[in-house]
Amino acid sequence: MDRINAPTKARGDETSNKAVDTRANTTESNERTVIRSSEPSSIAVGGVPPAVVSDTEAAEGTGLRQALMERCVQSRWSPDPRSMIRFDGQPSGPGREEFRALRARLNLVRERQRLQKLLITSALPEEGKTFVAANLAQAVFWQQERQILLVDGDLRASHLHLALGAPLAPGLSDYLSGNADEFAIIKRGSQPNFFFIPSGRTVSNPTELLENGKLRVLLQRVASAFDWIIIDAPPVVLVPDAKVIAELCDGVLVVIRAGETPFDLAQKAYSEFRGKSFLGVVLNRVDARLTYGYHYYYERKARTAGSNGKKR
Ligand SMILES: Nc1ncnc2c1ncn2[C@@H]1O[C@H](COP(=O)(O)OP(=O)(O)O)[C@@H](O)[C@H]1O
Ligand SMILES: [Mg+2]
Repeated sequence: MDRINAPTKARGDETSNKAVDTRANTTESNERTVIRSSEPSSIAVGGVPPAVVSDTEAAEGTGLRQALMERCVQSRWSPDPRSMIRFDGQPSGPGREEFRALRARLNLVRERQRLQKLLITSALPEEGKTFVAANLAQAVFWQQERQILLVDGDLRASHLHLALGAPLAPGLSDYLSGNADEFAIIKRGSQPNFFFIPSGRTVSNPTELLENGKLRVLLQRVASAFDWIIIDAPPVVLVPDAKVIAELCDGVLVVIRAGETPFDLAQKAYSEFRGKSFLGVVLNRVDARLTYGYHYYYERKARTAGSNGKKR
């Protein structure tokens, strides 16, 4: 309970927050936003053995990746710069450090337990689930060139394809309806290690489709080809979809929008996964004025370190 309380309470008392304190101006606008991750590395999810990849699984993965490279639809994506942080180019930039910090936390968790399929959800719409899923996937990809599969599991309000500038269909709903196979729904842009399943055509029965057993089959079929499968989900308080998908995942991150998500709903979202696959909280869109002291200190320190290293 404390872990979810801490960042939520932090609206009134930012300095007491023990979560990762990272800053960002995640857009090119003047709005400064901060993402905080709680400490998933310190949260034990009992009884889950670390992932051990056998030679057979590794060989299967290589074979499947090869098949994906040959058969998946490749197109030119046009990422939306308002939603996608740039991880290439300059060594530092708005928002990157926050996602790197989150990635580092998750990598620590992976050293101790199985963590391949990661669900991103929140209590309500517009809290940043899609933003976090898309940019975390990028952060993981850019550091280690891991094999990433990003999945739009929000069959109700699909936005991930818009952030990536990728096609919407055929996608997950088409696969779950039996109208497409995995090679038809997995998309690839210009990066050979970054694959994406969009949500697909609009359907009237998303929960039933997610529950029909085909999602489990899909994840089992493709798992060996990827290091990470990151799934964007609908808000957990409003519809059951995120809980259904979470049953198939190793971990859940709950996004909380600072100063906006009502405390009781944040708690409710947390309680849905507590004792199961809950990993931590990402506190999104924190007012950067509240963390001024923090980044002033680090920026100043970085500048000092830089100038000390220079020969004059
Ligand atoms: N930290 C952030 N910085 C800048 N824009 C953000 C941030 N988090 C979310 N947004 C923007 O807010 C809007 C809603 O976010 P989104 O991820 O689509 O919410 P959700 O998936 O929870 O409904 C999107 O336009 C998104 O790009
Ligand atoms: Mg969304």
